[in-house]
Amino acid sequence: MKKIVILISGRGSNMEAIVRAGLPAKVAAVISNRPDAAGLKFSAQAGFSAQVVDDRAFPSREAFEAALADAIDQHSPDLIALAGFMRVLGADFVRHYSGRMINIHPSLLPAFPGLHTHRRALQEGVKLHGCTVHFVTPQVDHGPIIIQAAVPVRAGDTEATLAARVLRQEHRIYPLAVRWFVEGRLVVENGLVRVSGPEASQSILAEE
Ligand code: GRF
Repeated sequence: MKKIVILISGRGSNMEAIVRAGLPAKVAAVISNRPDAAGLKFSAQAGFSAQVVDDRAFPSREAFEAALADAIDQHSPDLIALAGFMRVLGADFVRHYSGRMINIHPSLLPAFPGLHTHRRALQEGVKLHGCTVHFVTPQVDHGPIIIQAAVPVRAGDTEATLAARVLRQEHRIYPLAVRWFVEGRLVVENGLVRVSGPEASQSILAEE
């Protein structure tokens, strides 16, 4: 069975969605860079090895990333899933996990990389917004796109209502992407991702 390490910083609802999907894979560990991450509670209750590598306890980003890589590599994971992991990772760290680290981002990339995506989407007046699961490359919030879900932006939306609509789709597409990965179905060619095997839609248009 393939082994997954999930990295979180906060609430951990995407981690929970991956765990609850009952995928044919073993969650070897959940690692948080914040000792107070709410998601650690769920992972401990679910019986996973839950570890903290507190970025604030290290003198430099390099030192933090070396400790984080040690913690991850202990489990020899096939896949590292960033699930609301709020630290920018250095190029060497990212290259070490090339092709086996994925991330979920709350926008339709390449639109709105970075923070405050829902606020920026509302300010720009876009009519569709959404979320993306992608392979992680050294450029933040870039990297080959595995799957996207789009949702409508409705009149009267606030950051909170839009975020909630997007989050429902995050919980739908992240477990799907992880499933394809552990089933060995993701093929990356020239920076583009396709899913081999039976018909699989990499684009979701959600009305709700
Ligand atoms: C999600 O919106 C994710 O896309 C973003 O941070 C949020 C984390 O939420 N990167 P959670 O911790 O998974 O609940």
